[in-house]
Formats: sequence, C-alpha cells, structure tokens
Amino acid sequence: MKTAKTSSVPTSAADFLPPRETLPRLQAAARECRGCELYERATQTVFGEGPAKASLMLVGEVPGDQEDRLGHPFVGPAGRLLDDALATAKIARQEVYLTNAVKHFDWEPRGKRRLHARPKTRHVNACRPWLEAEIRVVKPRVIICLGALAAQALLGRDFRITRDRGELIASSWAWRIMATWHPSAVLRAPEVRDRERMQQELTDDLRKAARMTKDRQ
Ligand code: URA
Ligand code: SF4
Repeated sequence: MKTAKTSSVPTSAADFLPPRETLPRLQAAARECRGCELYERATQTVFGEGPAKASLMLVGEVPGDQEDRLGHPFVGPAGRLLDDALATAKIARQEVYLTNAVKHFDWEPRGKRRLHARPKTRHVNACRPWLEAEIRVVKPRVIICLGALAAQALLGRDFRITRDRGELIASSWAWRIMATWHPSAVLRAPEVRDRERMQQELTDDLRKAARMTKDRQ
C-alpha cells in the first residue's frame, strides 16, 4: 500500500516564532530560523536593531555582504549613505528601529565574490512573520519602507515607488507608513545629477516622516 509522503519542511518563519514576543526573544529565535532556504548559504541571521519603543521604524530590503559578515543591518555602503541622510535630516540612528524585510543575505557566486541577489517574493513572504512580530512589539508610530521590496511587503504588490514615494499613508501597520528610495538605488543611479536628487528626496522624506512621529492627532 502506498502512503502519502508527508513533508515537514517549513515554508515560513511562522513555525519559528517564540510564544512570548520581546525583541531579545525574537532575535534569539530568528537565529534558528529555517523558514526558507536562504539560511543555508548565509553566515547568520541579521535581525532588526533599535529601541523597543522607537516611534520610527525603517524597513530595508535584505542584508548585504557586510551585514551578513558582521550580523548588523545597514553597516555596509548603503548603510553609510543612510547614515548621511539620517544625519542631514537630524535623526539619531540609535533612536530608530532599523530592520529588513528579509533577514538572510542572498547571493550568487561570481568568481571569488559573493554577488548580491535580489530576494524573491517567496522569500519576502516566508520572512514576513519576523517583520510583523517586530512591528507588534515596537509599535512604531511611523514606518518608512526603503525601496520597492519593503514597500510591497507591507503595502502590497501594486505599490510603485516611482509613483507613490513620499506619500504618508494611513495603515493598519502604523499610524502612517511611507516609502522612499532605497539607499542602494541612490548609489546605483548612473548620473551624478540623479544621485544627488534622489539623496535629497530620501533625506527630505526621512525628515518629513520623523516630523510625523511627533505630530499629535
Ligand atoms: N541593504 C538593505 O536593504 N539592508 C541592509 O541591511 C543593507 C543593505
Ligand atoms: Fe527565516 Fe527569513 Fe532567513 Fe528565510 S530569510 S530562513 S524566513 S529568517
């Protein structure tokens, strides 16, 4: 008699969430996550960091090469550009909760180099329970999505960064949510003029969102 083959392979981070959610517990549990195949080739889980009571949360895309090695979000070239934008907008990085839509680095080999691979929708979906848990614990007043991937993770697949960037949107995730340029998109802009404009827009969006965290309504 044939028996149906049962598979216990996890398909999402949901199987790894701790029963009680605090940032340290979530971070510890995420270290063991096997919710998709990305953990296999990455060095470590890069979880979000920042105060548990941050009023502003920034959501990036996925850790890069340096983040993967060091275990912290936004510590590579994109992180340096973000630091500049935060400084110009007069936002203290240590007061912001900084995380990514996907918590493991994805890469393809190119000779000796590890070439960044853009995460697939299935990785974003598999990893979303961690982001949702971070939002439940931190309860930020305003969330800023850096780039289309983070925006689509929280605002749906129809979101278009070129069309909807900088809009403050009422949402069930937070009082207001906004999407702006990803710092890597700024770095990749081929023309200096575009790069400068995008960096200015990123800075202005950060400033505008930070102001909204203080708005009383
Ligand atoms: N890009 C991201 O989206 N997140 C990081 O942490 C680093 C680079
Ligand atoms: Fe888990 Fe996310 Fe890593 Fe996939 S990318 S193994 S869902 S933490």
